[in-house]
Amino acid sequence: MTGGHLQIVVCGAGPATDVAQLIEAAQQRCWTAAVTATPSAMDFIETQSLETLTGHPVRSTYQSSPGTRRSLPATDALIIAPATYNSINKIALGLADNYAMTSVAELIGRQVPTVIVPFVNAALTARAPFRHAVASLRDEGVRVLLGPDDHWEPHPPGSGNERQKFFPWTAAFETAAQLAHESRPAAPGHA
Ligand SMILES: Cc1cc2nc3c(=O)[nH]c(=O)nc-3n(C[C@H](O)[C@H](O)[C@H](O)COP(=O)(O)O)c2cc1C
Repeated sequence: MTGGHLQIVVCGAGPATDVAQLIEAAQQRCWTAAVTATPSAMDFIETQSLETLTGHPVRSTYQSSPGTRRSLPATDALIIAPATYNSINKIALGLADNYAMTSVAELIGRQVPTVIVPFVNAALTARAPFRHAVASLRDEGVRVLLGPDDHWEPHPPGSGNERQKFFPWTAAFETAAQLAHESRPAAPGHA
């Protein structure tokens, strides 16, 4: 499987602190990666070290740093992780109230292979709006890693700190790389 470019969107939840693990998983497979953060996620991440690791600015607002293009670069896969209750509900509804959500709305609309990995406790995943959001995103072709088949279950309220170290960064990358591979047109003569 050849490499590609991975767009990562991080939301405001504990595992955002560890997003370098996803970047490293991608780079080990010859992918490049860039990080976009929701405004809340900015409190969880080390912007400078992520920029050094990826070679790309961390984007959180519409303002781009000098020399950076405003439009989205060509993207082979999108991973939204950790995805919060708040952002998952917004993405399903098509809300675009910050730069990260606008990027996500556009990339899903462009049919970029997309994986969402929630980090949401069981009280919140039990809510009807959340269940409808996950069903609606899956209907739209978005891969939401959640439930027994994905070996990723919601944690009991108050146990996020213990669960954080099990966040499935590698599975998220493998799933996105597989989706990207499946969505690539077959090379001529290899039908
Ligand atoms: C320390 C801390 C930890 C949080 N952990 C979570 C979490 O694990 N899951 C979640 O859905 N929200 C969590 N939140 C709440 C979100 O940060 C909050 O809903 C925020 O509005 C999410 O914004 P975003 O979706 O734009 O990133 C946490 C908030 C704080 C301050």
